[in-house]
Amino acid sequence: MRESQFFHLLRTGRVVSRRRGSDRRHAEGAADGPPELPTRDPRPTADAAPACRARAPDQGRGGRRAAPRRARIDRSAPGAAEGRPRAGRRGPRLDASSAGAAMDSSSAAASRAKSARRAAACVCLALALLLLLLLLLLLLVEHACLRGRPRRRRPGAARVREIPLGAGERAGGPARVQLVPLWDAANDSLGGAAAAGRKYRVLGRQELLAARRLPGALIIGVKKGGTRALLEFLRVHPHVRAAGSEVHFFDHHYAEGLHWYRRQMPATLAGQITMEKTPSYFVTAEAPRRVQHMDPGTKLIVVVRDPVTRAVSDYTQVRSKRPDMPAFEQLAFVNGSQVVDTTWAPLRIGVYARHLQRWLAYFPLSQLLFVSGERLISDPALEMGRVQDFLGIRRLVSERHFYFNATKGFPCLLKGEQHGAPHCLGKNKGRSHPRIDPTAVRRLRDFYRPFNRRFYQLTGIDFGWA
Ligand code: A3P
Repeated sequence: MRESQFFHLLRTGRVVSRRRGSDRRHAEGAADGPPELPTRDPRPTADAAPACRARAPDQGRGGRRAAPRRARIDRSAPGAAEGRPRAGRRGPRLDASSAGAAMDSSSAAASRAKSARRAAACVCLALALLLLLLLLLLLLVEHACLRGRPRRRRPGAARVREIPLGAGERAGGPARVQLVPLWDAANDSLGGAAAAGRKYRVLGRQELLAARRLPGALIIGVKKGGTRALLEFLRVHPHVRAAGSEVHFFDHHYAEGLHWYRRQMPATLAGQITMEKTPSYFVTAEAPRRVQHMDPGTKLIVVVRDPVTRAVSDYTQVRSKRPDMPAFEQLAFVNGSQVVDTTWAPLRIGVYARHLQRWLAYFPLSQLLFVSGERLISDPALEMGRVQDFLGIRRLVSERHFYFNATKGFPCLLKGEQHGAPHCLGKNKGRSHPRIDPTAVRRLRDFYRPFNRRFYQLTGIDFGWA
């Protein structure tokens, strides 16, 4: 074999199998005679293949790097170790062997250097990973610490604690604080917040804090009786705080629950009365039982007005939204007859005695106050005196709070609760009514008379309706 051929075989690794074969033969039968020249089989032998695949610490991957290792093993062969030519070998064979050995040593050194570089790279990578892991750990710990700490609040933001509804929270009950602010913007620190919380709890116990409470008094009716006027007059009183709009809890929103109802109320201080007015309560069959369930001590106010005038007022209001509505007379009587259509809501509401009987099944008469809608217009101070007595508050709303507005034709407030300026009710209160056929009015009066009488009996008051 030529030297260049040998080097080529050495590089490709084929020499290993050949040399192995020759070595084996050399080892087994050196005494038997000269070794045979290697055959030119280009395929790797079966035992050479694992050697190519296996990786030793100083070995690279694949057959090309397997060759030097084999060459080193070869050196340990008897002839190679001594550096003398073996018997039967020719000159060129010996030269190739020594050149191979030299190459073996240089490629082994290169392989070691490469392995060292690789090991160093591995260590560096491991260190970087460790550092990353540590950083991650630090971040996690910091996040956990921050979560445990209460966040700083915006100035003015108040945290409240809601105490579940119970018997004691009712107006007049022993512990009436439901919403206790625990955060004071002035004390925007942890220590300050704790101190503020203590302060608010103490104030709460002394009932010096405003809190939302369930109403202690309700204006339950009647629609178009003058309920808005009464509520506006009452709001002048410093001991009365009322929900602005009709809440409709006991008829439409009962499923929302008492917590919801309480949230609709304005905050009140101890001694102040929370109020709400929803005129449809008076004619809602379930309302008496529901109100009693909330608080059997609830004070109930009913503003009543001549049922015929009330019906016309009701009709006028509906027609203001639906101008194409039939005439009052058409709706009030069944098919143009003389029979009053009591299924028509504006007329059904006016049968006060029937509705009152339902309330009296749940509340004693002493817990109801009947305000005359007519007198609320002609003498508001007188009616307000009665209402304040009933609520158990000082008579602070009096004549000096009212003046008669000739343009409107109704009393107006001299001092509004908030503005301190003359204040009349809006345009939708005190509308002018359409002219109703006097025969229809007479028939309606006839219809209501027995019910009115019954109502006078039940209430003990003659309202003077014709
Ligand atoms: P009209 O608009 O038909 O005249 P409610 O507030 O219960 O809906 O009642 C409305 C009625 O309150 C009005 O009916 C009006 O007659 C009466 N009312 C009583 N006092 C009033 C006041 N000071 N200003 C305006 N309306 C008043």
